[in-house]
Amino acid sequence: MSNLDSKIEKIAQLILKAQNIVILTGAGMSTESGIADFRSPETGLWEKVDPYEFGSVHSYVANTSKNLKFMLEMGMTIFRAKPNKGHKSITKLQKMDKLKGVITQNIDGLHQKAHTKNIVELHGTVNESKCMRCHKVYPITTMINQVLNGNYSPSCEVCQGLLKPNAIFFGEPLLSETLIKADKMIEDCDLMIVLGSSLLVYPAAHYPDKASSNGTKLVIINIQETHIDKYAEVVIHDKIGEVFPQIVEKVKNMKS
Ligand SMILES: NC(=O)c1ccc[n+]([C@@H]2O[C@H](COP(=O)([O-])OP(=O)(O)OC[C@H]3O[C@@H](n4cnc5c(N)ncnc54)[C@H](O)[C@@H]3O)[C@@H](O)[C@H]2O)c1
Ligand SMILES: [Zn+2]
Repeated sequence: MSNLDSKIEKIAQLILKAQNIVILTGAGMSTESGIADFRSPETGLWEKVDPYEFGSVHSYVANTSKNLKFMLEMGMTIFRAKPNKGHKSITKLQKMDKLKGVITQNIDGLHQKAHTKNIVELHGTVNESKCMRCHKVYPITTMINQVLNGNYSPSCEVCQGLLKPNAIFFGEPLLSETLIKADKMIEDCDLMIVLGSSLLVYPAAHYPDKASSNGTKLVIINIQETHIDKYAEVVIHDKIGEVFPQIVEKVKNMKS
């Protein structure tokens, strides 16, 4: 049996023994759907743009039209993207009654498109827009339609405040109700599987520590190494879309 095959088998066994699994996903979950992550060498978005010029709330307010042009381009890639084999296999695992839910750092909505249930979107979603003054939430199309009609300062129907995508920008706090939901999921879980995250962005970066301090077992699948690899039961440095479907298939076969 190859080293990879034995790791796949070990993860399948951990899944079978677990009662309450939580999957934590990052941008690496969606690279195989054609959406660039931030930190992969050469292809990561931060190699091309300055995160504080695009993606901070201050720059959005100060340079709304420049930011909107950039976001619209990136947004189109996201809106056209389809869930990959990794997203689909998460849904398969959930249908086997093993997976409680997914905590994601992604803003692309691909877990929902793959029909996974019980998703906590830590950083919000680009599928909605939100008024910066009265906080009313609209579908993202409300904002896009105004921009496509030449209004580079899209506004709220109720209070005329500036609309922004409902994703968390640099300089904005995460929503407390979202953090509470994520904490509850972590408290209850007995196996955490991290898929495609550098684990450098907080609060997700400390979720594996938080989980393991409750005795929860950890599995990590990520191309690059992470700082918590040494604490995990099993680590695979490979593509999620190649490996995770094999794990779910193994679980299915071992179950029957
Ligand atoms: N799809 C999205 O919604 C999206 C895209 C870009 C950035 N982001 C934001 O990026 C921030 C950065 O944190 P992060 O940890 O999520 O991303 P990150 O860019 O810091 O790390 C991504 C990790 O995924 C790994 N990876 C890339 N492709 C992979 C694959 N196919 N299989 C396995 N591993 C793979 C990389 O080696 C890297 O370590 C988050 O705040 C998130 O909101 C989201
Ligand atoms: Zn408003």
